[in-house]
Order: sequence, then structure tokens, then C-alpha cells
Amino acid sequence: MFNLQGKVALVTGAQRGMGKADALALAQQGAKVGLSDLSKENCQKVADEINSNGGEAIALRIDVSKKDEVESGVAQIVKEFGGLDILVNNAGVYIQKPALEILEEEWDALLAINLKGQFLCAQAAAREMAKKKWGRIINIASIASGGVGIGFAGSVHYAASKGGVIGMSETLAAEWAELGITVNVVAPGIIDTPMIRDPQTKFGEAMLKEIVARVPLKRMGKPEEIAAMAVFLASEESSYVTGATFYVDGGWLAA
Ligand SMILES: NC(=O)c1ccc[n+]([C@@H]2O[C@H](COP(=O)([O-])OP(=O)(O)OC[C@H]3O[C@@H](n4cnc5c(N)ncnc54)[C@H](O)[C@@H]3O)[C@@H](O)[C@H]2O)c1
Repeated sequence: MFNLQGKVALVTGAQRGMGKADALALAQQGAKVGLSDLSKENCQKVADEINSNGGEAIALRIDVSKKDEVESGVAQIVKEFGGLDILVNNAGVYIQKPALEILEEEWDALLAINLKGQFLCAQAAAREMAKKKWGRIINIASIASGGVGIGFAGSVHYAASKGGVIGMSETLAAEWAELGITVNVVAPGIIDTPMIRDPQTKFGEAMLKEIVARVPLKRMGKPEEIAAMAVFLASEESSYVTGATFYVDGGWLAA
């Protein structure tokens, strides 16, 4: 099960964190992988790791908020590997700031990456997937996205973007089912990645401790635990799953 031999994947935000784990896991299952992020050099290091372990990977720079970079990145993968079957829309930014202080340009910049960026990548990928009537799009949202009883104070633009990802994914799932493309969402809880350790995100040790205390499994998730869900959703075995959101949260929402 979960064999991805013969499939081609694009992972955005793949230089580190969950995107890197997704790329490694997809390659492990046999997919050829295009790793993209703002730094091609950093992606190349992950691609080298895959290639030296017998996989096939290339590195690309794609700023997901820029349509021309998305389209040329997808074209490059198609040229290199002959198609595109799987997209993991992982690139994202988290910025903590009180709602009353968020500037219009800060709102626009975050939404351009977290929401518009996912749409641009999905659209460019779906054009390729439709040619073979087979595709898997996996969009990364968050537990901070609304509708689940958690209001995540301090990042209204982030929550709005991730709620938008879920709405967008359900619509795309309905629209692209006839193209053979499934569209699903993985909504992580708190996962130990550079994002939450970055001083700019202002999580801080105390807040992380407080969150972990609320999680029944009493720990943060590992990037590989998100990648496992991505692999399932990328595989043939998920063929009857579309338009769904999977919370991978250590039981946080159940508590
Ligand atoms: N870590 C968590 O607890 C958590 C929880 C819920 C959701 N998420 C989401 O998971 C995804 C991965 O996050 P992570 O924790 O691995 O974070 P991370 O910061 O370690 O990785 C995110 C990557 O996205 C890249 N990126 C940022 N802007 C970009 C752009 N314009 N174009 C291309 N790439 C860009 C960054 O360079 C970075 O490498 C994000 O969408 C994030 O919102 C994270």
C-alpha cells in the first residue's frame, strides 16, 4: 500500500519543517519530487539527501505568491519528470500580532502566501493533472482555521487564511472530481518545526507548554506525523477521499 512509484510530486515550502518531511516521505514511497521554497539552495540540500538515498528529486525556487514563479516551477517539473500528479501545498507563514494593529499590507502579504499561493499552485498543478485524469492535491491548513471551537487569539489574518484554505479545498474537490483530482486538507495541531521556534512567531516556551498541556498526547507532533497523512492522501488508496479535512492534532480537538 501507499506505493508512489511512477508518480511526480511538488512540495512547496520544502526546505525545512513539515514540507521537508513531506518531500522525504513521498520520495521514500517512490515518488519523484520537486522541492520548492524561497531558497533553491536549501531545497537542493534536501534534494541531495533524497538523490543520495536512491530517490529522484530536484530543487526549485517558487515564491507561491507569484503566479509567474508558480507557473514556471510547474513547467520545470513537467519538463524534468514528464508530468505532475501530487501537490502538497505546504508553504505558509505565521505572524502573531493583535488584530487592532495589523496593517492592510500585512494582511495582504500573509493572505497572498497562505491562501492565494495555495490557489495558484493548485490551479497550475490541476491543469497538468487533468491531462492524465489523475491528481492528488493536499492543502495544509491548521487547527487555527475556525469551525472547531478554537479561537486562536493573536493571528486573525492567519486564521482567516487557513479557514479560507478549507473553504477553497471543498469547492475545488467538488469542481475537480470530474477531472480525476482529489483535494483534501491536513490541519495540524502544534507541530515541532522551525516555524514555532522562530522568535518572530512569538510562541515562546510558556505558550508552547500551555498548548501541550491541552493536548491529550502531551507532546507536540513531529513533522513526520503530518507527512504520514500526506502520503496516504497522495496515494491510490485514498481514492474515495476528497473534500475532507484531517486534523492531526494529538487529540487536541477531542479534549
Ligand atoms: N508548526 C505548526 O505547529 C503548524 C500548525 C498548523 C499549521 N502549520 C502550517 O504548516 C505549514 C508548514 O509549516 P512549518 O511549521 O513546517 O513552518 P516552517 O516555517 O518551518 O516552513 C514553512 C516554509 O514555507 C516557506 N515559505 C514562506 N513563504 C513562502 C513563499 N512566499 N513561497 C514559498 N515558500 C514560502 C518558508 O521559507 C518555510 O521554509 C504552514 O502552512 C503552516 O502554516 C504549522
